[in-house]
Amino acid sequence: MQTGVATETASGSTPVALPPTTPTAPQRIGVPREIFPGEKRVATVPEVVEKLVKLGFKVVVESGAGDLANCGDDTYRAAGAEVVEGAPALWAASDIVFKVREPSADEVALMHEGQTLISFIWPAQNPELMQQLTAKKVTVLAIDALPRMLSRAQKMDALTSQAGVAGYRAVIEAANAFGRFFAGQITAAGKVPPAKVFIAGAGVAGLAAIGTAVGLGAIVRANDTRSEVADQVVSMGGEFVKVDFEEEGGGGGGYAKVMSEGFQKAQREMYAKQAREVDIIITTALIPGKPAPRLITAEMVMSMKPGSVIVDMAAERGGNCELTEPGQAVVKHGVTIVGYTDLNSRLAKQSSTLYGTNLFRLAEELCKTKDGVINVNMEDDAIRGLTVIKEGNITWPAPAPKLPAAAPAAAKPAATPQAKKGHGHGAASEPMAGNKLAIMFGVAAALFWFVGAHAPAAFLAHFTVFVLACFVGYMVVWNVTPALHTPLMSVTNAISSIIAIGALVQIAPPLGSSGLPPNEWIRWLAVVGIVLTTINMFGGFAVTQRMLAMFRK
Ligand code: NAI
Repeated sequence: MQTGVATETASGSTPVALPPTTPTAPQRIGVPREIFPGEKRVATVPEVVEKLVKLGFKVVVESGAGDLANCGDDTYRAAGAEVVEGAPALWAASDIVFKVREPSADEVALMHEGQTLISFIWPAQNPELMQQLTAKKVTVLAIDALPRMLSRAQKMDALTSQAGVAGYRAVIEAANAFGRFFAGQITAAGKVPPAKVFIAGAGVAGLAAIGTAVGLGAIVRANDTRSEVADQVVSMGGEFVKVDFEEEGGGGGGYAKVMSEGFQKAQREMYAKQAREVDIIITTALIPGKPAPRLITAEMVMSMKPGSVIVDMAAERGGNCELTEPGQAVVKHGVTIVGYTDLNSRLAKQSSTLYGTNLFRLAEELCKTKDGVINVNMEDDAIRGLTVIKEGNITWPAPAPKLPAAAPAAAKPAATPQAKKGHGHGAASEPMAGNKLAIMFGVAAALFWFVGAHAPAAFLAHFTVFVLACFVGYMVVWNVTPALHTPLMSVTNAISSIIAIGALVQIAPPLGSSGLPPNEWIRWLAVVGIVLTTINMFGGFAVTQRMLAMFRK
């Protein structure tokens, strides 16, 4: 049972007592100061506090919790939070605790029965912590256990939001350590070549790094064992570099698998070639639950040009580069190797804002009644996945969530390229597709024959043109990269303005005709038609130009 606790007033001088909350009253969300060395993030920011208050909750923040993320106590107070002094007061006053890092043993000691903790927990890596939390009879929602394959869960996906920020920061760290521009330039003093960046692993962090490096003007290449990410690399402005070995790297759920020895050898050869050519390597390769794959050997580092940079994002898991020193930036063989493990803390405000928003979205799911009381509904797939301890009982790992029937089919295209070459298990589905196509053609031919046999000859000619137009249109649109569909639509929109010719014909009698002038109202209708199609035509081409310009470097 919790007791009233002391809190600072707005002036920060006279402490007043917070009354204890009852289970039905609006619950208090507590935000402690993170105590992990070097951790600068905070679990919520003032902008998010306002939204939590609107959801019916009271918010209590430990004094100084947001200082390192540029969120002072006063900003929290202004947003409607109470600020309390010290961790014991904060933990005692909170029904629900929002945290970033998993709690330390000292923090667990401050917890009380019935409390709910929402934080990164990593239950597989922290069995001892799980036991300590169980003994406290609390409920724990591990944000890292979110079932990411549920599209409804994306708004709560803190792993993605944090990896995106870290990928961006990795490029900034590389730019900081690199002695040249990223973008190529031609100046009076000479020509500067663009920097060449190679990204190993194109998951969330890798794609964010590609986008950032491309934005800075570098030439970016990337590799991943999962072939399905090749299109994503290209759409971010990078070039996908393939390993010269046929093996699919998808291990299910969007994660990679450990590759065969043959693949690894071919991959090492390709990486060695890239190391000789590029100026910057950013490594993000990760297989969940496994040590980081060693992709960059000491020899590869030695082969790089002096002044080159490696940012090893996997440093915390042992590193993708043999020479990485976790937490440090070191220079070895003339190459700066950055092994920082606190990339998110180096953008603390941004990381905290995104993390706080993820937790707010989760709070919305937990409190659908908007009365400031959460309901940990174990029937809800997303909440079930997150809940690793419920009222003192371990509920981790959760059973796989029920996915909509369409989801497994969506995963198939990744296997198709392999299946075509006879390597994959998807080969059996090909005759099925062939049969289906044959049946469709048969039905279409029968229909055509029926129309031809019964319709007038003039209709058949128009019908043939119509069918051919549908076929050509389908082939044109489906062979265009999805990213270019919008400019394609606007250009076809512009071309469709050919109807202007019809309106022109209506304005004046056709040349050589006896020359009956059209009705006055038809003439004015034609004028309106011409004005509108002119806007459509020129507007369509202008929009297409602007859109295509966005894709040009
Ligand atoms: P992710 O799982 O989305 O991406 C990892 C990618 O690596 C996947 O696309 C996977 O297919 C690929 N991969 C696995 N093995 C590979 C191999 N042998 N060769 C090429 N590609 C391979 O992971 P996410 O979220 O992008 O994180 C990337 C890394 O960044 C992780 O190691 C994570 O721990 C780390 N990280 C580091 C931070 C820091 O402060 N240093 C902060 C946030 C994340």
